Amino acid sequence: MTSRTEPKGESKEKSEIREGQSVELLKALHILTRDGTMNSDSRRKLKQVYHLVSFIEPILKELLKREQPVNIVDVGAGKSYLGFILYDLFLKDATNVKIWAIETRHDLVEKSEKLASQFKFDRMKFINEKISDSNSKSELPKKLDLVLALHACDTATDDAIDFGLSSRAEHIVLVPCCQAEMAEKLKALPSTHAIRELWAHPHHRREFGSHLTNVLRGLKLESSGYKVRVTELVGWEHSMKNELIVASELDNKSYVTEARKRWKSMSEQIPVNTRTSFTTKD
Ligand SMILES: C[S@@+](CC[C@H](N)C(=O)[O-])C[C@H]1O[C@@H](n2cnc3c(N)ncnc32)[C@H](O)[C@@H]1O
Repeated sequence: MTSRTEPKGESKEKSEIREGQSVELLKALHILTRDGTMNSDSRRKLKQVYHLVSFIEPILKELLKREQPVNIVDVGAGKSYLGFILYDLFLKDATNVKIWAIETRHDLVEKSEKLASQFKFDRMKFINEKISDSNSKSELPKKLDLVLALHACDTATDDAIDFGLSSRAEHIVLVPCCQAEMAEKLKALPSTHAIRELWAHPHHRREFGSHLTNVLRGLKLESSGYKVRVTELVGWEHSMKNELIVASELDNKSYVTEARKRWKSMSEQIPVNTRTSFTTKD
């Protein structure tokens, strides 16, 4: 039942918009309509982005204290909602900070470039490339401070991890998307072990496959020297897309050795060969 005091129409939208956020920008991003209202998809997207922003706010504030250049990369950026909102809320005066968006879809990159120019977000840069091919881009700095991947589909999240690791990003923040690779491998696994019941049904296979993948992603990041925190992004309906993984660089060799043992052992327990499994070349 709708409460009498619940704001309606535009006033409801206003109560959902963060202080300092440009309404004009949200309109230009089509999150808000021209008359300032929001549909349920936009509301959900804005909620996700704001939740992610609140999780990374402490990291951002630390980075913003620095005087040297700071480079943030959003991979699988789509319409770059995240980048635009971050820039608007935190980066307009942070002249040492650049935010990059990597996206394969040319049309989205072109629109985002126009929007960045319209709002004079001069330190927003766009790379129209696959994540896995982006490291070679000369305009991208070798050392990155923060890599973000919000709902990078399937193994694009793994590309984001490899991208973050290869540039030794100080922080890698992931909200994985749907995951199909592991479910396929689990289905093909010849096993009579009781544990197979965990993924006997297709629905369980997708859920468990997604869960296992994220567990292995965490172990891979720990094995690469990152402290990992896993939490729920926001209590909403798409449970499979609601996990937040925050990895921050840690300088501790014994931690890495221990994590590698756990990653290897976990990969041996369920011997499927996916992007996240420990292999001998690791
Ligand atoms: C589900 S959308 C999410 C977009 C955005 N991060 C957001 O949350 O609104 C995933 C985006 O990643 C892009 N993408 C998928 N695989 C990619 C890859 N390998 N390299 C770069 N972009 C990729 C897709 O084109 C799509 O725009």
